[in-house]
Amino acid sequence: MTPSDYEFLRKLLKERSGLDLSADKQYLVESRLIPLTRRVGLGGITELVQKLKAGSTDTLTAEVVEAMTTNETFFFRDKIPFDHLREAMLPALLQGRANRRSLRIWCAASSTGQEPYSIAMCLKEFGAALAGWRIEILATDLSQGVLEKSRSGLFSQFEVQRGLPIQLLVKHFTQIGEFWQLNADVRAMVQHRQLNLLQDFGHLGMFDVVFCRNVLIYFDHETKAGIFERLGKVLEPDGFMVLGAAESVVGISDAFKPHPERRGLYRPNAIRLAKPAIVAATPQPAKVVAMASR
Ligand SMILES: C[S@@+](CC[C@H](N)C(=O)[O-])C[C@H]1O[C@@H](n2cnc3c(N)ncnc32)[C@H](O)[C@@H]1O
Repeated sequence: MTPSDYEFLRKLLKERSGLDLSADKQYLVESRLIPLTRRVGLGGITELVQKLKAGSTDTLTAEVVEAMTTNETFFFRDKIPFDHLREAMLPALLQGRANRRSLRIWCAASSTGQEPYSIAMCLKEFGAALAGWRIEILATDLSQGVLEKSRSGLFSQFEVQRGLPIQLLVKHFTQIGEFWQLNADVRAMVQHRQLNLLQDFGHLGMFDVVFCRNVLIYFDHETKAGIFERLGKVLEPDGFMVLGAAESVVGISDAFKPHPERRGLYRPNAIRLAKPAIVAATPQPAKVVAMASR
């Protein structure tokens, strides 16, 4: 791969997926894209870049973007976010939504499904307290490949051994040959949809909880700030946002504030939410502007 091939791919990936590759990640690009070039019958990365430059199909661009995504995930990853869900978020929302009796949870980079299904299993544990509630868990990801796997609800022995307590395996999965399939009642709690976080997501509506974990680490400051700004607009004022262990809003956005006791948990920033209402209710600024313009 020539330096100019690398620069072309870096720019393409930044534009299409937000992936912010430093100048020294050629080895990563090669290790992910050489298998792709073989699969589609190209001689190597230079030929791939030529095809992409020639304005070849969107399918090839999408394949390059997908091949460069990191899909690492596992059930109940990091444990703490799911403790927050059981101990803080669900009790607060059960109270706050008692009249409405509905909950909307968005898992914004859901990969192969272990995260949204971990959320679904946590909700199942609440049993009677949530009986009759309308529950929606939306799982979205940039990559169609991971969404397909997630929809199938099929996991290997290795995957169910990573983070999934044995009692939940016995309760919610059925063994099918070498695989374990999540039972239909848990699968039905999760809807899947392809979505690129760089693009508008206002049309998804409002959520009570957003899990957006281990994806923003791949983006630059400006991209993260833009995403936080837009996440702030789709989260209910009393909702919750969960980030990954290596992610934070601090120094990037004031749309959210960290929970004082719970690491990785964020609330919409009430002071900031209140600002537009205060401005709208105060006529002076308009007068000042009018006087100044005379
Ligand atoms: C490392 S996985 C994290 C999965 C899960 N959230 C977790 O913490 O275990 C990151 C996921 O983000 C997805 N992704 C990368 N760029 C994205 C983008 N621009 N929009 C939406 N998803 C993206 C990848 O396809 C991948 O499945």
